[in-house]
Amino acid sequence: MCGIVGYIGKKDSLPVLLEGLRRLEYRGYDSAGVALLENGVIRVVKTQGKIKNLDALLAKEKKTCSNIGIAHTRWATHGAPTKLNAHPHSDCRNNFSVVHNGIIENFSSLKNELIKEGHKFISETDTEVAAHLVEKYYKGNLKEAFLKAVNKLEGSFAIVLMSSKYPDRLLFARLGSPLIAGVGKGENFLASDVPAILSHTNKVIYVKDCQAGEIRKDKISLFNLKGKTQPLKVEKILWDLESAQKSGYPHFMLKEIHEQPSVLKHLAAAGIKFDKKLTGALKNARQVSIVACGTAYHAGMVGKYVIEEMARVPVSVDVSSEFRYRSPIIDSRSVLIAISQSGETADTLAAVREAKNKGAKIVSICNVVGSSLTRESDFVFYTHAGPEIGVASTKAYTAQLMVLYLFGLNLARIKKSLPVATISKYNKILRNIHTHARLILKNCSRRICDVAGRHHNFGSFLFLGRNLNYPSALEGALKLKEISYIPAEGYAAGEMKHGPIALIDEYRAVVCIAPESKIYEKMISNIQEIEARKGKIVIIATQGNNDIKKYSKEVIFIPKIAELFSPILAALPLQLFAYYIAAKRGCDIDQPRNLAKSVTVE
Ligand code: AGP
Repeated sequence: MCGIVGYIGKKDSLPVLLEGLRRLEYRGYDSAGVALLENGVIRVVKTQGKIKNLDALLAKEKKTCSNIGIAHTRWATHGAPTKLNAHPHSDCRNNFSVVHNGIIENFSSLKNELIKEGHKFISETDTEVAAHLVEKYYKGNLKEAFLKAVNKLEGSFAIVLMSSKYPDRLLFARLGSPLIAGVGKGENFLASDVPAILSHTNKVIYVKDCQAGEIRKDKISLFNLKGKTQPLKVEKILWDLESAQKSGYPHFMLKEIHEQPSVLKHLAAAGIKFDKKLTGALKNARQVSIVACGTAYHAGMVGKYVIEEMARVPVSVDVSSEFRYRSPIIDSRSVLIAISQSGETADTLAAVREAKNKGAKIVSICNVVGSSLTRESDFVFYTHAGPEIGVASTKAYTAQLMVLYLFGLNLARIKKSLPVATISKYNKILRNIHTHARLILKNCSRRICDVAGRHHNFGSFLFLGRNLNYPSALEGALKLKEISYIPAEGYAAGEMKHGPIALIDEYRAVVCIAPESKIYEKMISNIQEIEARKGKIVIIATQGNNDIKKYSKEVIFIPKIAELFSPILAALPLQLFAYYIAAKRGCDIDQPRNLAKSVTVE
């Protein structure tokens, strides 16, 4: 989604802003722009496409120096991804320039009003109304005009304002979409996310919802939307820029796939603990509800199997965007687990707020420290996977799975649903699973790359799995379609005969997830049905099961592990398979078209 960077200080702001934008590229965008305040005049440069287009445009312009500026990468919502719609946007006289992330839901009525009052609009965006509103309300006090304008806006957004009349400050406000202020020495920053400013400072202030503020070169202030001063809480970022670099890998996605053994190792070793309050809430709960989107939703689906199996507590799983509209049965005895890598996914936040209003206790499983989700939750379990930059979620997924397994085991302990010996056996498996993950990456990458080489030209894929690996099939299909653009569907293998079997012929590639399990034979029957219809089969099977080779030459073996834990291991070859197919097709793996890393609009 859109990326915002703002700078004020002693440096030339342009290189700082462009570097910040580059570090936010992972969020996904389709146009970019900057506004610099030079000798009392705002100069705006913007373009369609990538930041390199903006670089090229700026290179053609006269070199100047400005110590204050705002910059933006736009992910189109209102209006096509054109130069005209790119941010920053200005008022009629170019006195006020704004960048904005999110959606202004009432922009249309505001725009009509402003047009009637004589304001001239040049873009199709919702953002432009903000600049014109500040112009309308400005009577000599910038803060007052800004807050009046912000209070008129409805929706979910973060916004930064620069004014030609005030070369010493940038104003900002947050209603829903993420925004941080970076604390420097003689300079301060604004950004949508930490990597944008981490090369300058590791001290940040997470701007809260319904909070506004101002940065000057030597001062940061926060206030509420009525203008009342609020306290500052400066936090230290514990990871460095190195963690947000590719470290020699051709793509962030491949680097993040390879980080999984270490993430799993640390999570399992640290374990998770329930405090008294959470233990009480869980004891009291009739059921556990899970909400999440995309990959995190697939983790939630595995979580349902795991928690029900271990703790014998009923678990429901919903896609966040559906949850709130289906009148869910939630009350003060409910526990809702929200899973999100970013902690900023608008649909998941909306589902959480819905459940909270009905009295549910909120547990979040999240990767980003200080994100909106964590602040709105009663209990937080971090996935500690480090920054995930590739749009396709990989290490966050297996980290979410690990936390869900640990959650299931803790709940089993409270409920006494598993013998103590089984709990310690399962804990041991979890503590050891990173060695299996490491072996898969070491021994199977080459093989998977070869299999991908023989399959990258297929026009469509089916992914099949059963039981705990049904969600693995959904996740395998999602990974492939989002980075390679090949249509791919995930199905519960048992459902194949109820429809998808009609698709099978020699042009259809079918990935079957068939590790050792109690329903292995059923999976084999499905594989035979595909074979009989000449489908091109790729199988993920347990090491040592040489018998399976009679159904396909294309077998990828994963280490032997108890069935309950197989989704963690199955995830890795599926991620690599999608990665190598996308690489062979020359796709933009880390920033697939139309996708955003954190989806901050509903
Ligand atoms: C995963 O590969 C996707 N890019 C996407 O489905 C993602 O998992 C989803 O948008 C949820 O994001 P979150 O985990 O940040 O909430």
